[in-house]
Amino acid sequence: MKIALLGYGTVGRGVDQIIRDRVGSVEVARILELPDRLTDPRMTSDYEQIVQDPDIDLVVECMGGVEPAHTFIMKALASGKHVVTSNKAVVAAHFAEFAEAALYNRVSLFIEASVGGGIPWIAGIEKARRIDEVTSFKGIMNGTTNYIVYQMLKDGAEFADVLAEAQQMGYAERDPSADIDGIDVMNKTIITASAAFDVACTHDLPVSGIRNLTKADLDLFAAKGRTVKLLGRGVQADGSYAVAVEPVALSSDSLEAHVPSNFNLVTLDGQTVGELKFYGQGAGSLPTGNAIVQDVLDCAAGRRPVYDFSRGLAYKPELLRADYVLRTTCAPVGAEEYAPGAWLVRDLTAVEARAALDAALAADPTSFMAALG
Ligand code: HSE
Repeated sequence: MKIALLGYGTVGRGVDQIIRDRVGSVEVARILELPDRLTDPRMTSDYEQIVQDPDIDLVVECMGGVEPAHTFIMKALASGKHVVTSNKAVVAAHFAEFAEAALYNRVSLFIEASVGGGIPWIAGIEKARRIDEVTSFKGIMNGTTNYIVYQMLKDGAEFADVLAEAQQMGYAERDPSADIDGIDVMNKTIITASAAFDVACTHDLPVSGIRNLTKADLDLFAAKGRTVKLLGRGVQADGSYAVAVEPVALSSDSLEAHVPSNFNLVTLDGQTVGELKFYGQGAGSLPTGNAIVQDVLDCAAGRRPVYDFSRGLAYKPELLRADYVLRTTCAPVGAEEYAPGAWLVRDLTAVEARAALDAALAADPTSFMAALG
């Protein structure tokens, strides 16, 4: 099978290396790159040369960002080429449109690498769903933020120093705000909910990140037997669903609390299978490249995933409720003290919690909030 790579950054290079070293049945025939970076005879900056090449069966999009990735994916599907992508931003924004275009043009869209790096998470969801409804999922889905919290705890390091290390190691997004403000996990949560619940998941979900997390916050929670992790979560019940992205202060005994470095741990619940956990490297050139090459091989073997979002689940934020701890200078009305300078606010939906955090940030821009998991 001849394929084309769109983008030759961290992920594109990983795909090229894995195919060159380990997969004789696939050839990277063309690579789309910027005009000033054409360093390989396979490279072109003219996308038309790729979409109009009848020898190319499949396009791997690993450029990142919404445009021009969206336009390129739609053109590839319309030209009868299968598409494999690691780009969570574009899939989260256009999943239903891509799925419909793939069906119409009798080709397939493969999205394994867009969530959880090298972990076969989307495949796990699809396999579980052959028998069960997935009733809920939760997960550490961002390698950068897990790495930051892990290193802060291990070395007593400061947030900014560890973030710079994560960027050097190729885990972090070009703009690290997407990692530390929860946008990357938001995209992965939208994709996961769409695949797990058959729903064109809302973009209007509550999202908060760990930008304001301090070493003192980690110490405060450690004294209560808890560790903070940034989680994406989703639940469905009785024709409705809810999703949220927020820091959660988990029991230090939980498996999630022990996830090291840039690893991810994602969990689904199914009716007969019960709880299933998937653990692995959620970011980086070779793990993400591995997930892409697995999709390419599945496509070559004739696997044709179909996504159908016609089920019409209603979005109901009340399905996700928790007690929250808010560390801020002004005590919220009616809140109990959790620890000096931190307040316990009971039984909020994730949407109400995000509103409470916004109110606290207006008075104290350093405020931090976590759900009690
Ligand atoms: N920035 C992302 C992460 C890359 O840290 O998990 C993989 O999606």
